[in-house]
Amino acid sequence: MHLHFVLIVVISITWANAKTSTNCREPVILQDFDVTRVLGSWYEYSRQRNIFEDGCDCLTSEISAVDSDEFQVQSCCQLTKVSNETQKCNIGIEKVRLTDPEKKEASFRYHRPGVAVESHLWIIDTDYENYMILDGCDNVSDEEQNEVFWILSRNERISAKQVQKIDEILRTHKVDRSKIIKQKQGVNICTSKRPRKDTLSGKQKRKPQKN
Ligand SMILES: *[C@@H]1O[C@H](CO)[C@@H](O)[C@H](O)[C@H]1NC(C)=O
Ligand SMILES: *[C@@H]1O[C@H](CO)[C@@H](O)[C@H](O)[C@H]1NC(C)=O
Repeated sequence: MHLHFVLIVVISITWANAKTSTNCREPVILQDFDVTRVLGSWYEYSRQRNIFEDGCDCLTSEISAVDSDEFQVQSCCQLTKVSNETQKCNIGIEKVRLTDPEKKEASFRYHRPGVAVESHLWIIDTDYENYMILDGCDNVSDEEQNEVFWILSRNERISAKQVQKIDEILRTHKVDRSKIIKQKQGVNICTSKRPRKDTLSGKQKRKPQKN
């Protein structure tokens, strides 16, 4: 017993001294994955709290292919405390690429604007038509990583059966469901509209160059 205790302390100290502090789990990556089937629009059903979506309600994402292994993600949300009429876009992850396009694995890499290091994102499960559960390890810096979780749905409302299915999947993967917060969706809250696609290119107008 005593030896066990000492060992645990030693291991804990070693762990605490490791350079990278990570809250991330080992990835469980969906296999036999068909990336073309996740394109299109998704509603955010719930998420684990993250800094870049703070204050976001009514979040929707549109996923489109840039080429066969790179994808654009355009997310917009209503910052209810700021405005109930307009939405903020280009939130969070804007582009992902398949880690290994040769493999049919739902494993991606992304670069968040302003963050030098790349991060890893993977899909735990999706039926393509109703839900998609994403897990990621957001590299805040070389030394800090945070686990991120998103549960997306194809429709604004999801059935009790789907909710149950999602719960089961989260339980199987030992996700701490107390950390998952439900996204506010619905006509009563989402009085703003997602901006039209052609205004969302994400490109900034270049200033005309002199000479
Ligand atoms: C948006 O609507 C909610 C609910 O009606 C309200 O609490 C909030 O203050 C509104 N936000 C703004 C910026 O007016
Ligand atoms: C995230 O950062 C860690 C520490 O610098 C690094 O080992 C890891 O490879 C990074 N993840 C990705 C996907 O590049």
